Amino acid sequence: MEKMWSGRFSAGASNLLDEFNASIMYDRKLYREDIEGSLAHAKMLYKQGILTQEELKQIENGLVQVREEIEAGKFEWKISDEDLHMGIEKRLTQIIGDAGKKLHTARSRNDQVAVDFRRYVLRKNLEISEAMKALMEVVLDVANKHTETLIPGMTHLQHAQPINFAFHLGAYLSMFKRDRERFESSYERNNISPLGCAALAGTPHNVDREYTAELLGFESVSVNCLDTVSDRDFALEILFNISTMMMHISRLSEELVMWSSYEFGFVELSDEYSTGSSIMPQKKNPDVPELLRGKTGRVYGALMGLLTVMKGLPLAYNKDTQEDKEGVFDAVATAEISLEILKEAIKTMQVKPQNMEKACAIGHLSATDLADYLVEKCDIPFREAHFITGRAVAKGEELGVDLSKIDFKYLKEIDERISEDVMEYLGLRHSMNARTSEGGTSSERTKEQLAYFKNYLSR
Ligand code: ARG
Repeated sequence: MEKMWSGRFSAGASNLLDEFNASIMYDRKLYREDIEGSLAHAKMLYKQGILTQEELKQIENGLVQVREEIEAGKFEWKISDEDLHMGIEKRLTQIIGDAGKKLHTARSRNDQVAVDFRRYVLRKNLEISEAMKALMEVVLDVANKHTETLIPGMTHLQHAQPINFAFHLGAYLSMFKRDRERFESSYERNNISPLGCAALAGTPHNVDREYTAELLGFESVSVNCLDTVSDRDFALEILFNISTMMMHISRLSEELVMWSSYEFGFVELSDEYSTGSSIMPQKKNPDVPELLRGKTGRVYGALMGLLTVMKGLPLAYNKDTQEDKEGVFDAVATAEISLEILKEAIKTMQVKPQNMEKACAIGHLSATDLADYLVEKCDIPFREAHFITGRAVAKGEELGVDLSKIDFKYLKEIDERISEDVMEYLGLRHSMNARTSEGGTSSERTKEQLAYFKNYLSR
């Protein structure tokens, strides 16, 4: 098979090389970006007097036909064409003849692929951010119903202090908001046109880079061509953004798995988003959050993979860089389906407030409140108060009662400075609502936080 670059070669490429060297089987995903890039480039070449009007017309019509062929599934993607850029250009030239051969004037595949891939990544940053918004709206809906629902707040997965379920979900809303901001700032930072950089050094042709940048929706033109054709930071950024988002999704998923167990019983996933067992007829398994947790691994893999590909590359373009795409495509697809299914799983799950509140009745969740009471009402230094409370907890353990339900007389025995009004402080709802500091869990403070997210999402 004759190559576009065959001029200096006397023997053809081996089939093995074709197979090893080709990216066309996956970079064809970028065909829209590639054709739009070529259309913009051709327009600019005409504007600068490098193409005639007739040549431009032919190229435009030809590219539109190529796009139709691709979309109709009639385009023949051949490994021997190496990548989509050459596959498309070859077909264009078959259709329109000599004018097709002029399209690559003042351009290299190096700036061409940088344009295509960058535009794909930019678009995905925005699409993923939009999908995250939809997820946040669903989480907010659930949270709005549960500002009064007590749930054990934990550290070390041990009961710590009572909080409400909306406050717990508000933590994830905070994480997801930061995730969205990362996607958006990557979009802003990387919205720069590589077109016109050619192979590495720019071009002697009189190109108008501002014009093609504008046609392609880029905010500005890159500053240094040597950097631009080898830079893949934009791809690393989306991989990091997705990785961090998936890490947050994975933490929530881990909680959903736990909460779905008999031991917790805090939520029940809907039948639509649960699976059964092939042997145990009673099982209802949380495969969705488990897979979300699991898929986080492949996304991290893609990030580590590309960081490693890039770390030893001399300037400027090296073929190693062709390895940038599959990991990103896979991570993007993983992010998209993950966001969609998590949203649906949360929308359809049943929350079980009674079980959440029941779980609060064990583990002495209001112990800190006793210590705070001793400090506030009895003027006892916190360290001493901590010790006295420890004694009270030990008494509760001995009696098999939670501190919130202990008989007052035992507290009085431990320290006679304690008076009966302490019992109110030990109440779990009182404890939750006592945490009124900014960002705290009291129902009022939680409602403020939810209003903040509502306002953010309405922008
Ligand atoms: N398929 C290549 C890639 O994805 C396109 C750029 C090739 N450029 C070159 N000079 N070999 O990186």
